[in-house]
Amino acid sequence: MQYSEKVLDHARNPRHVGFIEDADGVGMVGDPSCGDFVVMTIRVQDGRIADIQYQIRGCGAAIATCSVTAELVYGQSLETADLLTDEDVVQALDGLPEPKLHCSNLAASALHAALEDYRQRRKADLHDWRSLYAR
Ligand code: FES
Repeated sequence: MQYSEKVLDHARNPRHVGFIEDADGVGMVGDPSCGDFVVMTIRVQDGRIADIQYQIRGCGAAIATCSVTAELVYGQSLETADLLTDEDVVQALDGLPEPKLHCSNLAASALHAALEDYRQRRKADLHDWRSLYAR
């Protein structure tokens, strides 16, 4: 299987690996008990992704897609991150071999799950804040 230089670089030297302990949003895709999975954590400041870290169990292509996804959205607005697609991830890596295309889904899906988790938590916070004045 032929990988681009970018895939090999990100697979060998993945960026933003880790887990933000007090993350503002956490997204998990896959099933840790039986296969490939990603946990993506984000910190949000002023409507931007101030930090992003992930942990992954998967093949080299999946590691590369998580790494480049983190690079693509780091420092970007939430709206920009919302628009990231699997195709964007593949393009940023100068392509993936056909049998590995599905691996790119893990990264973007985990990112979107983390963004959704962030928004759900904010909704809950806002609700709690209002409840203080509802007595
Ligand atoms: Fe399973 Fe790539 S993550 S083959």
